[in-house]
Amino acid sequence: MTAILSCAALDAGYHRRPVVRNLNLDVNPGEIVAILGSNGAGKTTSLLTMAGLLAPLGGSVLLDGKPVNHKRPFLSARSGVQLVPDDKCLFTTLSVADNISFGRRGKAAVDEALSYFPALEKRIKLPAGVLSGGEQQMLVLARALVAEPKVMLIDELSMGLAPVIVQEILRVVRRIADEKRTAVVLVEQHVHMALQIADRATVLAHGDVVLEESAEVLRADPDLLRASYLGRAA
Ligand SMILES: Nc1ncnc2c1ncn2[C@@H]1O[C@H](COP(=O)(O)OP(=O)(O)OP(=O)(O)O)[C@@H](O)[C@H]1O
Ligand SMILES: [Mg+2]
Repeated sequence: MTAILSCAALDAGYHRRPVVRNLNLDVNPGEIVAILGSNGAGKTTSLLTMAGLLAPLGGSVLLDGKPVNHKRPFLSARSGVQLVPDDKCLFTTLSVADNISFGRRGKAAVDEALSYFPALEKRIKLPAGVLSGGEQQMLVLARALVAEPKVMLIDELSMGLAPVIVQEILRVVRRIADEKRTAVVLVEQHVHMALQIADRATVLAHGDVVLEESAEVLRADPDLLRASYLGRAA
């Protein structure tokens, strides 16, 4: 299978100083790859660079074989990458419906996005600000889905949510990947939950890849992951 998103020897960072070095990552349609690592490891920086919001300092990010346009990040959104950032950026006084169709997408795309989140359908006319944290996170995902992305980059959707809610939302992410063949890069602090739905994981420590492994292997061998967090894995 050809990767829809491909990072090759990617150096990413700020003001010409890389905080992530030599990241190689291919994600196929329908696949979920988790990027794991402690605080400050470089997970968000990697996602921002994949989304075209930061210019690569070295190497490349290809979407469907073409370099992601970091000079015009809206073009990368149009060509199929949706970043779901860790700050939700909702319009809290606008209704759920208006938040979703802000990008003026057709009704069919909106209905399909909502079909993944029945809880939102019931609250469609309410201002986004009155939704629970979990519902707001669903809304952020639904909004991204309406753009019919080929790749979704999801940064810490669990922020401030109860674990059962996180689990429920992650299961929907799995369904989206399976049914819509969306490629997903998932950054998640709840490592255990991320591994339940991911196909593979890449672990960063201080900006270096210290482990790349299938989720199946990591689920079976928690010590492997623990060692990589402590910087002991090759
Ligand atoms: N705007 C910025 N300018 C300069 N350095 C930054 C900037 N944002 C982040 N960094 C630095 O880059 C490194 C990686 O940060 P990043 O936010 O990518 O980590 P992270 O893995 O997402 O961490 P967390 O789990 O806390 O979200 C850190 O050392 C951080 O201080
Ligand atoms: Mg982060």
